[in-house]
Amino acid sequence: MPGFEVIGAEEQAEVNDVFARGGVLFRHGFDALRNNCYKVREFEAAFAAAMGAPHALAVTSGTAALRVALAATGIGPGDEVITQSFTFVATVEAIIEAGATPVCAEIDATFNLDPEDLERCITKRTRAVIAVHMLGTPARLPEIQAICRRHNLILIEDAAWGCGGSLANRPLGTWGEMGTFSFDFAKTMTTGEGGMILFKDKAHYQRAAAWHDHGHENNPAVPRWEDTRSGSGFNYRMMELQGAVGLAQLRKLLGVVEAQRANRERLWAAIHDLPGITPRAVPDSAKETADALVFSVQDRETALRCRASLLARGVSTKILPEATTWHFAGTWTHMPELVKAHGGSLSDAFPQSRQLLERAVSLPVMVNMPETLPLTIRAALLEALTEPARKTP
Ligand SMILES: Cc1ncc(COP(=O)(O)O)c(C=O)c1O
Repeated sequence: MPGFEVIGAEEQAEVNDVFARGGVLFRHGFDALRNNCYKVREFEAAFAAAMGAPHALAVTSGTAALRVALAATGIGPGDEVITQSFTFVATVEAIIEAGATPVCAEIDATFNLDPEDLERCITKRTRAVIAVHMLGTPARLPEIQAICRRHNLILIEDAAWGCGGSLANRPLGTWGEMGTFSFDFAKTMTTGEGGMILFKDKAHYQRAAAWHDHGHENNPAVPRWEDTRSGSGFNYRMMELQGAVGLAQLRKLLGVVEAQRANRERLWAAIHDLPGITPRAVPDSAKETADALVFSVQDRETALRCRASLLARGVSTKILPEATTWHFAGTWTHMPELVKAHGGSLSDAFPQSRQLLERAVSLPVMVNMPETLPLTIRAALLEALTEPARKTP
């Protein structure tokens, strides 16, 4: 799972460097005090280079990244944005915050946006699609991208879980017009809180950079307090200590993802032959972040039995099957905008997604995995899958 497991001397050295060079914690200005120390700028440049993207903008969270990306497109009231029914609330919150209408499409066996249902959800008002790489597995981007092109829609990737993954050798977050990342504490790299946006288009980048900074255009011809502006915005600026931690974490990203892939292989090797287990579908040529190992079992009862049996051995699951309340749009009755967009009720919305999610189990994958964990998990699942009568609560 996470960058937090590898936080150490390198992150501390980067933070110390900020203080050693003057302690300026704001990303802009104070040039005379900072001995040329600009960690957020450096982090943006390093992240863009690592991902092979022309522009990157650091922000305060993955949620902010989505909100700023939407602001860069000018999407607002009257516009519809389609995303998927299995995601974190943040994806839909950002659409609502932009004043647009959130529409959720079904997921398919990849547990990401179902291209066929996406196409069915498109109306005359649809402006953008946010495809999410849930739990580190790429969405079916070639199909989704083709649909967006055909209907002239802006594709944004929510790569909160996708940092370090790729599809057809293209890093996740670089397929869409924009790709957003989260560096919260549970992600493959972390700055505590934080996020990043990658852009293909310079105009999107410039609009986003101004909007996330109260409309400041950071015009080099004038001091900041006389800065030019073309529109208002908000404040989603990343601060220097986060930039410093991000630089050290970025250098470890590849190692984190490789360790997770190796550990996930070991977990899968231990359980793949258990009766009734079907692995999550993965698009061709995907390189996953391997944040989680997701598989399906026969039904909801079996999935819940798997979870109970794992918990009894001190092993938790990750989001599935327990947390569909937080990660499944079918339960988000607290979002009136979403309820309205789906005909006034979510109870019967997304039957295909509900069916997939209810019988899925997701195991967290760690960088530092205890040697005995694969066998512990095997024993727990074997019991749940083969002794249903005794284990049914
Ligand atoms: C799919 C998805 N999008 C966006 C976010 C929001 O990121 P943050 O916690 O940095 O605001 C998350 C957080 O877990 C997420 O899972």
